[in-house]
Amino acid sequence: MTKQNLVSGMRSTGKLHLGHYKGVIENWVKLQEEYNCFYFVADWHALTTKFDKTETLREDKLNVVTDWLACGIDPEKATIYIQSEIPEIAQLHILLSMVTPNNWVERDPTLKDMIKMIKSGEDNNVQMSYGLLGYPVLMSADIMTFNAQVVPVGVDQLAHLEITRDIARRFNNIYNVELFNEPLPKLTQVPLLKGVDGQKMGKSFHNDIKISDDEETTAKKVMQAITDRSRLRKTDLGHPDKCEVVFDYYKVFADEQTVSCVCEECQKGERGCADCKRQLAKIINEAFAPIREKRIYYAENPKLVKEILANGRDKARPVAQSVLQQVNDAVRISL
Ligand code: TRP
Ligand code: SF4
Repeated sequence: MTKQNLVSGMRSTGKLHLGHYKGVIENWVKLQEEYNCFYFVADWHALTTKFDKTETLREDKLNVVTDWLACGIDPEKATIYIQSEIPEIAQLHILLSMVTPNNWVERDPTLKDMIKMIKSGEDNNVQMSYGLLGYPVLMSADIMTFNAQVVPVGVDQLAHLEITRDIARRFNNIYNVELFNEPLPKLTQVPLLKGVDGQKMGKSFHNDIKISDDEETTAKKVMQAITDRSRLRKTDLGHPDKCEVVFDYYKVFADEQTVSCVCEECQKGERGCADCKRQLAKIINEAFAPIREKRIYYAENPKLVKEILANGRDKARPVAQSVLQQVNDAVRISL
């Protein structure tokens, strides 16, 4: 049986953190075996909010892909490319924008949240633009250009994907074709990793541990992590469940035996927080050692990364062109 097409993307945010690894990339690596995967860097999507901050755009894109390759996204198995190198996505975006009623995008709750943040001035320099309103339509074009059946996303993206399904159905109805699949979301069942300060992990909050951080930096960041605040001395009885960052990281990165040992010692007052964090840093560093080694190799060979991206583009475009041919025929754009 032929494999189903799977599309997923990440905005070009620059070097990725452990939350990206656990929440997204680890899952993508597994999915490469089962699906015909198309993984891309959404640089156009990045412009929807950062159109005037493009100083680091080029290096950001390369850093994202460098992280992917280091983590085991395999160009032999998956097709890896940059969104803006596939003009068919833009072409499809135009056509989809014609069939998408305004109120579909206006009621998208994820987009509403983005707009609310902008209007409240939390994100100062961002303006509400025509392009940002089209965010879910562009995302639909990303997916439908490869006529994907499956899209792995986080819960925050489900609303966008719902619009994609609606647009696919509407296109098929209007032009009386059975061209587009209605792509299904594939949710990742991973606990969300918090930043070392206990807030949402993110680059802009300066609370993230990067995949590319070296061992020393990682240890330093882990040592800053907040713990069960009621605990001052090693002999105080601890509450691991209230130790949101450190104990959560143990649950994600350590084996079961270690987790239960940490839990027990903490509860009995036999474990100091500093020692506990030192051990955690060691576990994280051990887990990421091979990935980081590979990352240094790719980071030192940006030509190789660019070559992989060029090959990915050349593999992706014929698929996109074939879909666009069918789309143009259905719309009767083609003569
Ligand atoms: N909007 C997604 C995010 O912010 C990124 C994205 C863009 C995407 N296009 C996509 C994800 C298509 C899946 C499929 O995470
Ligand atoms: Fe958290 Fe470890 Fe301190 Fe317990 S000993 S509160 S698990 S850091």
